[in-house]
Amino acid sequence: MQTSPRPDRSWWSDAVCYQVYIRSFADSDADGVGDLGGILSRLGYLELLGVDALWITPCYRSPMVDHGYDITDPRDIDPMFGDLASFDALVAASHEHGIRVILDLVPNHTSNQHGWFRAALGAAPGSPERSRYHFRYGRGADGSQPPNNWPSQFGGPAWTRIVEPHGRPGQWYLHLFAPAQPDLNWEHPEVRADLEKTLRFWLDRGVDGFRIDVAHGIAKPDGLPDGEPGGFALTEGGSGPDARFDHDQVHEVHRMIRSVTDEYRDRVLIGEIWVSDDDRFGRYLRPDELHLGFNFRLTTAPFDAAEIRAAIEHSLAAVAAVGAPPTWTLSNHDVARPVTRFGGGPNGSARARALALVELGLPGVVFVYNGEELGLPSAELPDEALRDPVWERSGRTRRGRDAHRIPLPWEGGPPGYGFTDAGPSWLPIPNDWVGLTVEAQLEDTASTLSLYRHALQLRRSHPGFVGGSLEWYGAPAGCCAYRRTGTTFVCALNTSAEPVPLPPGEVLLCSGRLTDDGRLPPGTAVWLA
Ligand code: NOJ
Ligand code: MG
Repeated sequence: MQTSPRPDRSWWSDAVCYQVYIRSFADSDADGVGDLGGILSRLGYLELLGVDALWITPCYRSPMVDHGYDITDPRDIDPMFGDLASFDALVAASHEHGIRVILDLVPNHTSNQHGWFRAALGAAPGSPERSRYHFRYGRGADGSQPPNNWPSQFGGPAWTRIVEPHGRPGQWYLHLFAPAQPDLNWEHPEVRADLEKTLRFWLDRGVDGFRIDVAHGIAKPDGLPDGEPGGFALTEGGSGPDARFDHDQVHEVHRMIRSVTDEYRDRVLIGEIWVSDDDRFGRYLRPDELHLGFNFRLTTAPFDAAEIRAAIEHSLAAVAAVGAPPTWTLSNHDVARPVTRFGGGPNGSARARALALVELGLPGVVFVYNGEELGLPSAELPDEALRDPVWERSGRTRRGRDAHRIPLPWEGGPPGYGFTDAGPSWLPIPNDWVGLTVEAQLEDTASTLSLYRHALQLRRSHPGFVGGSLEWYGAPAGCCAYRRTGTTFVCALNTSAEPVPLPPGEVLLCSGRLTDDGRLPPGTAVWLA
C-alpha cells in the first residue's frame, strides 16, 4: 500500500481559529443561553469573517457551576446546548463551510455530580472509589486543617472537607478550581482509559481537534507538598513557578493524548498552558506531545511597543526549539477584553485595533475570541448579575470573569440584540451596545468588524504572509516594526504620544487613519508591502 508523504505544513500551522464561548454566541431556543443551534445559524457570518476553525467551549453534560467546565458526562451534549444529533449537524455544516471544529477537553477534573465522585463520597477512605480523586486526611490533631497550603484558583483553599458516610467530618478532597470541580488522580488507570474513550468518541464523530483545559495542571506532585507561601499565581498570567502546576509527569498524559489522536488524520491538539518559562512552555510541544500551546503573553502585555515586542519574541522563542508554530491570543473568556485593558473608550478601541493588526500579521496560529472582531469591551455588571463562581468563592472580593463573557450583540438593540428571543440573556447586554452590533458594523468600512475581515482576507491571499520567521526593523522610541522574513510585508506599531513617519512600502491596511501628512498616529498600527 502506498502512503502519501507527510505534508510539511498542517492545516493549522497558520490558521485563524475563532473561540466560540458557547453560552454567549447565539441562542436558538430562546432560553437566554447560547447553544449549538445558535452556532449553526451563524456559520454564514463565520465564513464571511474568514476563520479557518472554531474552538467551542465545553458543551457536555454539566451542572454549569463553572459554565460547563464541571462535567458529569464528557460523551454527551448538555440539553441546554442541544443533543448529539445537533452536534453532528453542526460539524457537518461547519465542514461544508470549510470551517473545522475543535472541542474543549477537560481532563483535570470532573463535576462533583459525576458518578465517580458521588461513588467516592459514599465509599470509605482508602477505597478504590476514592482513589480516582485526591482524598487526604487533614492536618492538626482533629484533621480540621487542609492537607496542604494550596489555594484554589477561584479563592479559598484548594481543599474541601467532606462528611463521611457515618455522618462525621472526615477526609478532604483537592480542587484547584471550585469545590464543584474535584481534581482527578491521573495515576489511576481508569482515569486514563476514560479519557481515551472520550477522545475516540469525538474523533470518530469527525471533530478536528481539542483544546485541552489546564494542560499544565493535570499531574500533581508526589505527596502533594506545600508550596512557597506567596508562590501561587492566582490571577491568569501570574508568573513564576507554582507548586500546583507544571509537574514533569504531566507530559506522560499529553503523550497518551497525542498517541490516540495520531490514529486519526489531520487532528490538532492545543494546550492551555499558563507557564511563563519559555523552555518549560516548549516542553509541552515536543514532537510526541501537543501540536500547539496557547501563549498568553499578549494578554498581559501593556500597550507599550517594547513590552509587545518582548511578548512576541518570547512567544517565538518558546516554540522555536521544538519546531512548533507560535500562537497568538489577545483575549479569551478568562481575561479582560483588550479594549478595556487599554483604558476603554475611543483610545482603548483604537489600541485594541492596532494590536489586532500586530497579531494578525504574525506567523503562526491566531485565536480570535468571539466579540473581539466587534471591538467589544468588558462590561461592568451589577453585583446581582454576576454568575462566575469566583465572585462568591473569593468572598465577593474578585468580580470574576463575567464582564468578558457578555453575549454577542448581533442586531437591533436591548435586551436581546438578536442574540436571543428570550427577554434578557443570561448575562445582560449593555444598553449602549447598539453601535457595536454585527448589523451596525457589517457595511461600515471603518468598523472593527471590517478591519478584521479585511485583515483576514489579506492574511489568506497576500504573498507577504509566508514563512515562519520575522525580523525587527529599527523604529522610533515607543514604536516597533517587524518584517516577515523574505517578503516585503511590514507591520509597524506606534505606542508613543507622537505621530511617526511610516517605514517604506505601500499601505495595505491601517488600524486607524494616517495623519494628513501621511504619518502613523499614536495608538495605531499599519501593514505595508
Ligand atoms: C480554564 C478555563 O478556561 C476556565 O474558564 C475554567 O474556569 C478553568 N480552566 C477550570 O476548568
Ligand atoms: Mg439556548
